[in-house]
Amino acid sequence: MPGSHARIMYIIVPLFFICTLLVILNAATTEHKAPSLQGAHYIDTSLPIEERVEDLLGRMTLEEKIGQMALVEKNSISPEAVRAYGIGAILSGAGGKPENNTPEGWRTMIAGFVDASKKTRAGIPILYGVDANHGHGNVPGATIFPHMIGLGATNDTELVEKIARATAVEMLATNARWNFSPSLDLPTDIRWGRVYENFSDDPARAGDLGAAYVRGLQTHSPAVLSTAKHYVGVGSMLWQTSSNKNFSIDQGLTIPDEKAFRNFYLPPFRKAIESGALSIMVALNSWGDTKMSANHYLITDVLKNELGFQGFIVSDWYGVYEISPSTYVSSVAAINAGIDMVMLPFAYEQFISDVKNAVVRGDISESRIDDAVRRILRAKFALGLFDSEPEAELSLVGSSEHRVLARKAVAQSLVVLKNDRDILPLSSPRKIRVAGSAADNIGMQTGAWTYEWQGIDGNWLPGATSILAGIREAAPNSLVQYEKDGRFAEKDIADIGIAIVGEKPYAEGWGDNANPTLTDEDKATIERLRASVQNLIVIIVSGRPLFITDEIRNWDSLIAAWLPGSEGAGVADALFGKVPTTGTLPITWPRNVEQLPLDSYGGTSDESSPLFPRGFGLRID
Ligand code: BGC
Repeated sequence: MPGSHARIMYIIVPLFFICTLLVILNAATTEHKAPSLQGAHYIDTSLPIEERVEDLLGRMTLEEKIGQMALVEKNSISPEAVRAYGIGAILSGAGGKPENNTPEGWRTMIAGFVDASKKTRAGIPILYGVDANHGHGNVPGATIFPHMIGLGATNDTELVEKIARATAVEMLATNARWNFSPSLDLPTDIRWGRVYENFSDDPARAGDLGAAYVRGLQTHSPAVLSTAKHYVGVGSMLWQTSSNKNFSIDQGLTIPDEKAFRNFYLPPFRKAIESGALSIMVALNSWGDTKMSANHYLITDVLKNELGFQGFIVSDWYGVYEISPSTYVSSVAAINAGIDMVMLPFAYEQFISDVKNAVVRGDISESRIDDAVRRILRAKFALGLFDSEPEAELSLVGSSEHRVLARKAVAQSLVVLKNDRDILPLSSPRKIRVAGSAADNIGMQTGAWTYEWQGIDGNWLPGATSILAGIREAAPNSLVQYEKDGRFAEKDIADIGIAIVGEKPYAEGWGDNANPTLTDEDKATIERLRASVQNLIVIIVSGRPLFITDEIRNWDSLIAAWLPGSEGAGVADALFGKVPTTGTLPITWPRNVEQLPLDSYGGTSDESSPLFPRGFGLRID
């Protein structure tokens, strides 16, 4: 009977599918049956790290290992998914803030991810990474130190170590244990939008300060993991070679040059490794035809085999997927080149499935996966992530002690480039006229990587002091007048004029600029101020040297203040002689674009003399 036949089919067909599913599931669980955690001793804090690493590694499934290799941006994943996939690390890309954007909100957000990771089968804590490259800049109320170029001008390793430590303390208060810093690129072209993120174009200065920074983060307990970046040759990319259509030089092409690599680009990384760096970030540039993330020689042969680097290699934002249009091919190439953790930063499910397939097909060896995970676990154990959590002291975020340190750093970072008639230091002038776009603009002082990736122009940062406020405070006996545009109503001539001018905030390739110079508005302000004062001091607030060859003639004094951060009062400390000016140029100050790029010794490309050579700076006591 057709009717009863059909009824039987209703029963048989689903039964068949259920049975097949059970067989598949059974096969899957048999294949990936998790090794037992019984008798695990990786949690035993008394054992040596290597023993703990091997014990844990030996108990992990392939999926758990691959999860450790994923670095995901926090808005792309929930704590539940971190737990389900056993993700290894989360980051806040600049601006990746919690809804409750306070230090407390940060602490709660990060704790949510950490707790979820600890609930995984093996309880492996995540690493939470941030770009705390001039203090814990994402967090409102944090102390904002001078950007690295200013620290480069101080050339003071002790100071830099203290700043790194203070940054670590502020990070620890919010549970963030991984800083994507220090940047050790050697900028040879001031048109690049990332000059200020680096100490110097001199490998010796960059290396010494970078090593100090690594020590400050990592060698105190509890520690924060440092990242020496961006490996390698970044800063020497050629103008107009960017792989990003919006940029000109950032993410561009570096000419493969073994000699330059050995003599210039590599030494700062070597010093960082020697001082204990446990992670290195591979850059977004290309080394000749090869994307850096796919360069086996530079990553595995040199860093791991030759230098014996024991930490892990992390790729930069989406960089791995720039290797090939295929995510599978990209992941295979990067991991085989030696990348241990991939800053995806989005599609973690795709990554996990690609890498799993690659291992099954034999395109990535299990030993390569083990090597990657061993390195990641080593860093996690070294930081004490498996052990008891440090007390998070929120009151240390933006503490007065840290602000005093930052203010000191500001004063030390100033480079006096001109001081005709010994105008500086100022004693007690009767009348001071202040003008310029950066005089009362904390956003310009702090630059990018503050609150938002690109920074925010204007006065909005809690707890910060503008340069103008610092001048007012330092000169209680002077009449300090301020007009942003330099139009003063009185027609008399004041003793001193201070023009504080410079660049609006920018980050990465968005700051690439064919002609870095002062704006017409700033130039006009300076001219107006010039006409109403006897002696003119110009203070440039910028992330790089600017072309000022014609203008400087009309100025009596010139100070490069870089991007001083939240403690603008440090500028006045030097202006008024409270602190001697000891800063020196960390990078050559060129006259014009024909002198670019600089060579690795700071020389100009047409061999003409720069406006100021690297190392120049007038000491004013
Ligand atoms: C930058 C890195 C940074 C990362 C995470 C990338 O765009 O190149 O320097 O650490 O983003 O924010």
